[in-house]
Amino acid sequence: MGNDLIDLQHRMLVLLCRKLDIAIKTRQPEQTIRWIIVELKKFTEFHFTSEENLMHEIGYPSVGEHALIHTELLVQLDMMLAKISHHREFPEDLLYFLNKWLVQHLAQEDMKIVDFLRLAVHRPIGEELYEQYLLAPGRTKT
Ligand SMILES: [Fe+2]
Ligand SMILES: [Fe+2]
Repeated sequence: MGNDLIDLQHRMLVLLCRKLDIAIKTRQPEQTIRWIIVELKKFTEFHFTSEENLMHEIGYPSVGEHALIHTELLVQLDMMLAKISHHREFPEDLLYFLNKWLVQHLAQEDMKIVDFLRLAVHRPIGEELYEQYLLAPGRTKT
């Protein structure tokens, strides 16, 4: 997308969704699926905090608006989790919900940050460390 830190976290989110998908399809025990959902939820929270910090650092104009969308997504995610725990929703529905918002949010809202970042005067703190820590050894930025 344009920022290595956010790109990496987005890839991690996609990976966790696919992991959940595999767990459901291979009929893993309910507890195992619940643990993966917790893993996914915690990473989502972490990612949102990371993205909001980055927006502040670069002086992105609509941080509040974007953060509100994050909060709403987390509330929805919590509601889905509660329903799954009470067997009123299937993990498959959670996956459908995640895929929908992931694709939409990444493509629409997060892309706006990347567009702004391209010309932003204030750079993300520690941006110079990305190459050293985020890219696999031997892999260069494309
Ligand atoms: Fe976002
Ligand atoms: Fe994001």
